[in-house]
Amino acid sequence: MATVIIVGAQWGDEGKGKIIDFLASHASMVVRCQGGSNAGHTVVWQGNTYKLHLMPSGILYKDVTCVIANGVVVDIPCLLQEIDLLEKQGVSAASLRLSLRAHMILPYHYRMDELQEQLKGAGKIGTTKRGIGPAYADKASRCGIRIADLFDWEHFEEKLRLNMQEKNHLLRSYGLEELDAEPILQEYLLLRERIRPYVAETAPLINAAIESGQKVLFEGAQGALLDIDHGTYPFVTSSQPVAGGVCTGAGVGPTKIGKVAGIAKAYVTRVGDGPLPTELFDEQGERIRNAGMEFGTTTGRPRRCGWFDVPAARYSAMINGLTDLIVTKLDIFDGFEEIRICVAYEHEGRILREFPADLRVLQQCKPVYETMPGWPGTVSHCRRYDELPVQARAYLERLEQLVGTPIAIVAVGSEREQTIIRRNLF
Ligand code: GDP
Ligand code: IMO
Ligand code: MG
Repeated sequence: MATVIIVGAQWGDEGKGKIIDFLASHASMVVRCQGGSNAGHTVVWQGNTYKLHLMPSGILYKDVTCVIANGVVVDIPCLLQEIDLLEKQGVSAASLRLSLRAHMILPYHYRMDELQEQLKGAGKIGTTKRGIGPAYADKASRCGIRIADLFDWEHFEEKLRLNMQEKNHLLRSYGLEELDAEPILQEYLLLRERIRPYVAETAPLINAAIESGQKVLFEGAQGALLDIDHGTYPFVTSSQPVAGGVCTGAGVGPTKIGKVAGIAKAYVTRVGDGPLPTELFDEQGERIRNAGMEFGTTTGRPRRCGWFDVPAARYSAMINGLTDLIVTKLDIFDGFEEIRICVAYEHEGRILREFPADLRVLQQCKPVYETMPGWPGTVSHCRRYDELPVQARAYLERLEQLVGTPIAIVAVGSEREQTIIRRNLF
C-alpha cells in the first residue's frame, strides 16, 4: 500500500518537517491529522527556511495536495498568516484542503490556556500557549466550533456567544479581563471568506487518493511521548500524536496504512516541563543544544537535551507499530570523542528495561549508559550510507539493534538533500 505515516518517536521536534519535505517529492498528498499551531515544522530548501505550524510540509511541491484533516485544531488567523508568508516566499498555497470537520481555536482558547497554566503554578505543563488543550477540551465537551459552523452564520454566532458566556464567567471569577464577542464575530466574518476556497470534506479526498493508488504521506505532529494516552501524562499535549491518531484524525481505516516510520534524533530533546531521564545539565548538553540549534520553532524556548534513550524509543516503536526508523541530526555528533546511549534505567537498585507508566518512577530513574566512540570530521556531506565513517555506522547499527527497528533514512543536515536512504519507504 502506498501510504506512509511519519510520526515523531520522541518528544517532538525530531525533524518531521524536513523528512516529509524530502519524501513528498514521491507523493501526491501530505496530510496533517492532529495537533495545531503548537507544531513547528522546519523545511530548508536551497538555503531558504520555511517554518510551518499548520501547513503540511509538502507545500513546496506544486503538484502535492496538502490536507489539514478533521483531527487538527485550526487557528484560522495563524493559518492565513502562514499562507501570506509562504506566498511572499514565492510558494502557492492553492493545493491546500481544509476539513469542514476540523475544530477551530478561538481567542478564548488562548486565554484559557494561559489561565490554566497560571493556576497550575510550579506544576505547569509548559504548553506552547496556542490554546491547544482548551480547544480539544471543548471538542470533547461537545461545545467546540467547527469550520463547517462558519458557513452557517446564525449557528456560529449562537455557539460563540454561548461559549464566551461560560469562559467570561470563569475569567471574571479570577478577576481577569473579559473578552468581547463583537470584534471576534466581525473578524471571523471576514476570515471565513478567505478560507472558503480551501474548505472541503477531506476524508473522501484522502480515501479516493489511496484507492487510486496514489502515494499519501501522513505527517505527525508532536511526538509519541507527548501523546495524551501513551505519553508522560500530564506533561503531554491534548491529541494523539501516535500512529493510531492518523486513523481517527484523517478518517482513514487501519487497513489502509502501509508503513509507519518513526523519526528519532540521534539524541533526545524536550521543550516544556515533564520527565526526561537522560537530560544533560553539563557542557555536553550545552554542546548538543548549540550545535543542534535546539531552540523551539514555535516558542523560541531552549530545548532540554540528553543522550538517546532506548527504553523510551522501544516503547515508542511498540505503541506506534513502527516498521521503520528514521534517525536525524547525526551531524550534531561530529567531533564528539564519545557518544552515550541509555540502554536501561536504574530505579531503587533495580534495572528497568521498559518505559514506566508511573511518572514518579520515571522521574526517579537514573540512566544506565553504554559508551561508543565518536568520529572525526563531519558526516554532513555524506549522501550514501557507506560514505559514513565506520564509527557513525556502528552507532546507528547499535541503535537499530537496541530499538529493534530497521533504520530506513538518516539525516545529516537540515537541507533537503542532506539525507541518506537505506530502505525505500514507498
Ligand atoms: P519537527 O517539529 O519534527 O519538524 O522538527 P523542528 O523543525 O521543530 O526541529 C528540527 C530542527 O532540526 C529544524 O531546525 C531542522 O531544520 C533541523 N534538522 C532536521 N534534520 C536535521 C539534521 O539531520 N541535521 C541538522 N543539523 N539539522 C536538522
Ligand atoms: P512539533 O510538531 C515539541 C509540548 C509543549 C508542552 C506540551 C503541551 O514541532 O514536534 P501544548 O501547547 O501542545 O498544549 O503543549 O507539548 N509540545 C511540543 N514539543 N514539539 C512540538 O511540536 C510540540 N507541541 C507541543 O512544549 O510541553
Ligand atoms: Mg517542531
